[in-house]
Amino acid sequence: MISQAMQSALSQQLNDEFYSAYLYLAMSAYCNHTDFNGAASWLKVQYEEEHIHATLIYNYLIEQGVHVELQSIPKPPSEFGALLDVFQSSLKHEQLMTQKLNELSDLALKEKDHATYNLLQWFVKEQVEEEATVSGIISKLKLVKNDGYGLLMIDNELGSRTVATTATPAP
Ligand code: FEO
Repeated sequence: MISQAMQSALSQQLNDEFYSAYLYLAMSAYCNHTDFNGAASWLKVQYEEEHIHATLIYNYLIEQGVHVELQSIPKPPSEFGALLDVFQSSLKHEQLMTQKLNELSDLALKEKDHATYNLLQWFVKEQVEEEATVSGIISKLKLVKNDGYGLLMIDNELGSRTVATTATPAP
């Protein structure tokens, strides 16, 4: 059984992961609207990946015997600016998630809750990959600036991501 403080903190993270999914779906809709269909597809896959993250936390809370009470998911923005701005918003969001997961890990260590700490370390590692991937996309977008052909190439490349690549932790 996990502590009340840990339950509350993980419940908040569950909500944050659902918000992440919602945010990426909003970004995807915006990219469809602005005719970057490859980026829209990439962001929709990311939405699915965030949904997997939320489900991992949900399943863990259930396994721990917690009565999960779902909270409202905040409304994400609907306008994101240029394609570079979209991915910069993504990076900023992922950096915030990394900070939150580090704080959760600190709490798990403080409480000597090794089961939760183990789960969180998977998330911490996942954050490193996510930040690196998005940083890579930002670098390419900065390189091409407003060059239409370059943007088209990047959009095509982003469209080749078809499935969530998250390797989920062993149950
Ligand atoms: Fe749930 Fe983007 O990490």
